Amino acid sequence: MGKYLENIGLMQNILHKKTYYIETYGCQMNVYDSELVAGFLEKSGYRSVTDYKNADVIFLNTCSIRDNAEETVHRKLENLEYLKKQNPKRMIGVLGCMAQNLKDDLMESKPFVDIVLGPDSYRKIPEILENRNKVNGHFVDTKLSKFEIYEDLFPTRQSGVNAWVSIMRGCDKFCTFCIVPFTRGRERSRALDNIVKEVENCIDQGFIEVTLLGQNVNSYRTPEGSFPELLEAVAKVKGLKRLRYTSPHPRDIDDSLLRVMQENNNICNHIHLPLQAGSDRILKRMNRTYTKKEFLSLANKIKSYLPDCAITTDVIVGFPGETEDEFLDTLDVAEQVGFDNSFMFKYSARPGTKAAGYSDTVDESIKQNRLERYIALQKILSLKRNKEKVGKTLNVLVEKESKKSKDQWAGRTDGNMWVVFNKTNEKIKDIVPVKILDAKGITMMGERQK
Ligand code: SAH
Ligand code: SF4
Ligand code: F3S
Repeated sequence: MGKYLENIGLMQNILHKKTYYIETYGCQMNVYDSELVAGFLEKSGYRSVTDYKNADVIFLNTCSIRDNAEETVHRKLENLEYLKKQNPKRMIGVLGCMAQNLKDDLMESKPFVDIVLGPDSYRKIPEILENRNKVNGHFVDTKLSKFEIYEDLFPTRQSGVNAWVSIMRGCDKFCTFCIVPFTRGRERSRALDNIVKEVENCIDQGFIEVTLLGQNVNSYRTPEGSFPELLEAVAKVKGLKRLRYTSPHPRDIDDSLLRVMQENNNICNHIHLPLQAGSDRILKRMNRTYTKKEFLSLANKIKSYLPDCAITTDVIVGFPGETEDEFLDTLDVAEQVGFDNSFMFKYSARPGTKAAGYSDTVDESIKQNRLERYIALQKILSLKRNKEKVGKTLNVLVEKESKKSKDQWAGRTDGNMWVVFNKTNEKIKDIVPVKILDAKGITMMGERQK
């Protein structure tokens, strides 16, 4: 289509105020991708609405990581079928990680879905929208690319404190339980100066914190440098008060990364270090490429470089073949490291992954029991870590009003823990000293210091 016609199309969309709504499931990578998609939609003259029932285009950006993530999306789609019947012109799209594996199934069982796009196909959106009145039927593209990193684009972000910035896409680690290498494809990194430019842009827009994102941020490789060089370059961006990243792979954390964290005050004292399991046999079966001993010595190394560093983790209980003793190894690592917090999951078999073929599955009731025991231990560990802070004064970034009271703020420490305190003269985005008075579960109560 020529430029002239394209502009007319754009004008028409603006005049008729075409609207969109994106619902995001899964990890922060998807949050970032939804902002990219919003950028494409706005360029095409669409504007966002907060109630999906009023939207001309409804996109679900989906997640496949566990069975229940997919079930939530299926339930939502049933709900959307009804809306589509009410207004057949409304466009319904499934984006993200479910698109890849479920495209045939979705098309067969859910004919009201107009578009299925995998995570590397979002550049197609303007073209699809332009042709929506001309073409009948479905549009499906779930091809994965070795190159797509959307690097020349700036996403449309919600305003706020923290901006997500994707630095790499895909994953080559192939942990045997994980669907991500199949849904997101091969690892590829964005150019270093391009990431720095995007961070500068975020600061200009009023963000003061940035979180660098990737399935394996420390697999970041470019001719200009690897992850420690990138982290250092981003930390130097003027006006950036806090810098975070997630997730690193324990295998790839090295001294140079810890040194960069030590030397730059605005890099937060927090490492999310996914353990998954504590037993060597299970770790090997998961293809995690480290042993219990290596993980523990890495945690100690982190503490020696960064004594106050918060360490959080992900664990999976009930991986195929996991015995009671092997589960106790997971509890043992958690206790020895003293995780500040954990994301805890029951193993969920993902079709197509290696582990889905293991026949020695663990009973649901045993998984549930192990999950509850891990949660109980984590509660004790979080409380203990937070109690250690009572009496200390920590810098807290004011992020929002507390849910419990209009007279209180909620903000995070650089270790990523929430602190609630009475309002005085500070405002959102200020970083203020707060003395910790009490710790309840994972939230701390404090008092503003001058
Ligand atoms: N790239 C990150 C994590 C990505 S997925 C890493 O390597 O750690 C986020 C978390 O979901 C994982 O850390 C894992 O704990 C959990 N997870 C992934 N696949 C899972 C599965 N099949 N069943 C249960 N939990 C799973
Ligand atoms: Fe999945 Fe492992 Fe890659 Fe993380 S490192 S995304 S758990 S395959
Ligand atoms: Fe889910 Fe895909 Fe993220 S499977 S966890 S949305 S990379």
